[in-house]
Amino acid sequence: MTMAPAAPPVLDVLALDVHCHILPGCDEGSRSAAESMLMGRELASLGVRRVHATPHQFRFGHERTAVDVETRVSETRRDFERHGISLELVASAEYLYGERLFEAVDAGEALITWTTPDADIRRVLIELPLRDPVVGVESLGRRLLRAGVRPVMAHPERVLSVIADSARTALWRAAGWEFQLDLLSLSGTYGRDARATAEQLLEAGFYDFVGSDLHRSVQLPDLVRAHERLRREGLPTRASLPANNSDPSRLARRPR
Ligand SMILES: [Fe+2]
Repeated sequence: MTMAPAAPPVLDVLALDVHCHILPGCDEGSRSAAESMLMGRELASLGVRRVHATPHQFRFGHERTAVDVETRVSETRRDFERHGISLELVASAEYLYGERLFEAVDAGEALITWTTPDADIRRVLIELPLRDPVVGVESLGRRLLRAGVRPVMAHPERVLSVIADSARTALWRAAGWEFQLDLLSLSGTYGRDARATAEQLLEAGFYDFVGSDLHRSVQLPDLVRAHERLRREGLPTRASLPANNSDPSRLARRPR
């Protein structure tokens, strides 16, 4: 009897999109139910099976309850079903790192978290300010872990302080953070520096999750290119490395 070959890990990783502004009218992402369906249809055709709807939280004045996000997810889920789009939609959020988040964590407010089907670990997606210097990242990581939630950093490759010194992500990992690659960083959407940093972190096997961070349907051709590239070149992630551990020594300060 011949055994079916195991699916390449890259396909499994790409099947889960943990960062997407696919809910209509929630933030500066999708503007209509029709646009959300266009995005959903394309994601499904790329092999994505599960997508997390991650409206902005604590940014641009957005602040939504878990119930509100879940209600909007249910509506879009119904649209997908009605139009034969085979894509599991999960309620999540993208929190902005900053004072309001610290306050929420200090006050024990319930954050919108998610789990993966294979593990019962609650995670929360957090974006750092892209340009401002940040302090207290390790401390927030430890506090969240103590509260039973694992922090996942959205697109570190787009953060200026990481572009200048990607080795600092190793310190953040030691404090409990995990990392999500923006697929559009690989197609150059966010500039050469973000792309080079993404490639460096990828090569070091530093990413735990990938996300499209798709906002508008106009970005779909770039997303298709990023998927094609990863299928062609492979996608080293922590999970696919032999020791299930990335190598911080391969991360370095970029020459200026
Ligand atoms: Fe985002």
